[in-house]
Amino acid sequence: MMWRLCSLLFNDVDLIVLILVFDLQTNLTVDWDMSPVNHTCYHPENRFPVDDSLAPLLQCDRLPPRYVPGHLCMSERIHYPDNVPTHGDHRPLWPVFGEYIFVPRERWLHNIEHGAVVMLYHPCAHPAEVAKLKKLVKSCIGKHVITPSTLLTPERPLALVAWSCRLLMSSVDEDAARGFIQQRGHKGPEGTYRKEGQFTFGLLQQATMTGNGAQFGYSRIQCVP
Ligand SMILES: *[C@@H]1O[C@H](CO)[C@@H](O)[C@H](O)[C@H]1NC(C)=O
Repeated sequence: MMWRLCSLLFNDVDLIVLILVFDLQTNLTVDWDMSPVNHTCYHPENRFPVDDSLAPLLQCDRLPPRYVPGHLCMSERIHYPDNVPTHGDHRPLWPVFGEYIFVPRERWLHNIEHGAVVMLYHPCAHPAEVAKLKKLVKSCIGKHVITPSTLLTPERPLALVAWSCRLLMSSVDEDAARGFIQQRGHKGPEGTYRKEGQFTFGLLQQATMTGNGAQFGYSRIQCVP
């Protein structure tokens, strides 16, 4: 009975019901066993090479009209056809916007449904490129999640993901990254909702919602220099 509740969840009221039912349990370990392999580079002297000649790769999925992902209960495993999914079923509870030690796909896909741009970087990506992209993301959009991911390729170990699209990069193309965020942020079925996540496990830096709230979902996304 409780399990069926999960897949019926679509709005705030349902979420409150769920939180009561599950007593605020995030049960994060169902999706991630807390292993350091997901956020550690084990060959830091030998990181992936930056290849400026590799152009950024923009990939968008065609979604059926009025597609809405499901909110699956912790008893159900979720399989994704892509290593870097742009949409899909996910868990009811999601992290507050910000930078994390690690967030599994089952969670950040919910932020994407709420209009977030998710930045993924392989732990063995070049630290200067990672730092550059983090700074850009944080200065452009409050609705962001930043997390490492070992599911990216060595050729393009940097990614931005938003509702139905991903941008894969070898090195940071600032124009492409800004364009992606401005065009694809705040999309998704609940992209303009002014709503925060529910947990902060592994949070390194919470997103700041600067300005008049524009960064948090309402109006045009502007990147502040
Ligand atoms: C953690 O990393 C391992 C090795 O790359 C991978 O198989 C596993 O799917 C990752 N776990 C998550 C939750 O992404």
